[in-house]
Amino acid sequence: MSKYLITGGLPLTGEIKVSGAKNAALPIIAAAMLAESPSTLLDIPKLRDVTNLCSILRAMGAKIEREDNKVFLDPRTLNSFEADHEIARKLRASYYILGVFLAKNGWARTSLPGGCNIGNRPIDLHLKGFKSLGATVSLDHGIVEVKSEKLRGSRIYLDYPSVGATINIILAATMAEGKTIIENAAREPEIVDLANFLTVMGAQIKGVGTDIIKIEGVEELKGAEHRIIPDRIEAGTYMIASALTGGNVFVKNVLSEHVKPLIAKLHEMDVDLEEKISGVKINSTKRLNAVDIKTLPYPGFPTDLQSQMMVLLTQSDATSLVIETVWENRFMHVDELKRMGADIKIDGHSALIKPCKLAGAEVTATDLRAGAALILAGLSAEGETEIRDIYHIERGYENIEKKLATINANIRKIK
Ligand code: EPZ
Repeated sequence: MSKYLITGGLPLTGEIKVSGAKNAALPIIAAAMLAESPSTLLDIPKLRDVTNLCSILRAMGAKIEREDNKVFLDPRTLNSFEADHEIARKLRASYYILGVFLAKNGWARTSLPGGCNIGNRPIDLHLKGFKSLGATVSLDHGIVEVKSEKLRGSRIYLDYPSVGATINIILAATMAEGKTIIENAAREPEIVDLANFLTVMGAQIKGVGTDIIKIEGVEELKGAEHRIIPDRIEAGTYMIASALTGGNVFVKNVLSEHVKPLIAKLHEMDVDLEEKISGVKINSTKRLNAVDIKTLPYPGFPTDLQSQMMVLLTQSDATSLVIETVWENRFMHVDELKRMGADIKIDGHSALIKPCKLAGAEVTATDLRAGAALILAGLSAEGETEIRDIYHIERGYENIEKKLATINANIRKIK
């Protein structure tokens, strides 16, 4: 089992480059399977979740070759439409197999997906979408099966703008007969990136990035080349790290419109910030104002930056309030932060954060973003922090310790 050892207190300085977005790469890799010919994807991050999804698709017969951050995917050799249950349970995004193979083959089966332990993670909205397109759905002992003779476009209203359900319905509807309209759709940039890839493949999709998406089914899709958008959550994590350590960091390869809600909060906190074409520069030496945060679907403040932001708020000048509305159990980092001296009180979906000095401690990453928050806390704390269960962090951050070390962080990975 590997751990991170961090000695805190150093201001971060220099330039750090953000990788391609995990949550765009995963559905786009799955979408490449819809085509009749191979695709090439660029800026695919080297992450455990990506490796697991590729393993599932290889076991189904696809030919996948990875060369650094480039991935070549050939779906012509697919010969099975059932995901390896053991691997599928390891990542949430394995459910995209349902939308893809329902569209391509009219049948798919996988185990109920796993992923981070951040709350009840139902897929009822995905299944409601598939049913509305004419599929039958069965759930038996944690295995989901979807099938349909012929998918037909329909009008689907999502009770909640779920990212995964919006993506799965888009995937299934690309080759359904006629028009599908998704209302109250999610608007996340990763969905726009997927739709851009599908459009180059030949799909007809309008309205992505708004809450009404229209898809006109086509008969066939062809392979395409596509570069994945930068990871806005990784970018936000490094922006917060710079502000937290009183650093001066240029976070490179960021689309600043994707991190607007974070930029707005950093401005409110009085962090000096400069938006450039290729990234965002953070220079923070002043006292930080306390601010309140409420997580919401995009373009609201992202839940995936809530834990990292909470660490920054421990270093502000007054009490702050964080309200988590997306996931029901996303305060698991709080107990670990308390070991480091944080003064945080949780009441249901809210957390009250009082200013404090953080001190190094032995802590455990309980999920991906909670783990990222602990790294940030370690960078700002006095003394040494040891983080266990870092495999959670490696699911979503490419080479995080190596990247941070290049901007003056004292962080080491040890076995
Ligand atoms: C995606 O998860 C991301 N994962 C998550 O990132 C992110 O936190 C989340 O979107 C919200 O932005 C991937 O893209 C692989 P949702 P997803 O469906 O699609 C409820 C990370 O750290 N819901 O928008 O699973 C659900 O319980 C990860 O990178 C239903 O009730 O999120 C939750 O409360 C963690 N029924 C809310 O909606 C459903 O059928 C949001 O879920 C589906 C979801």
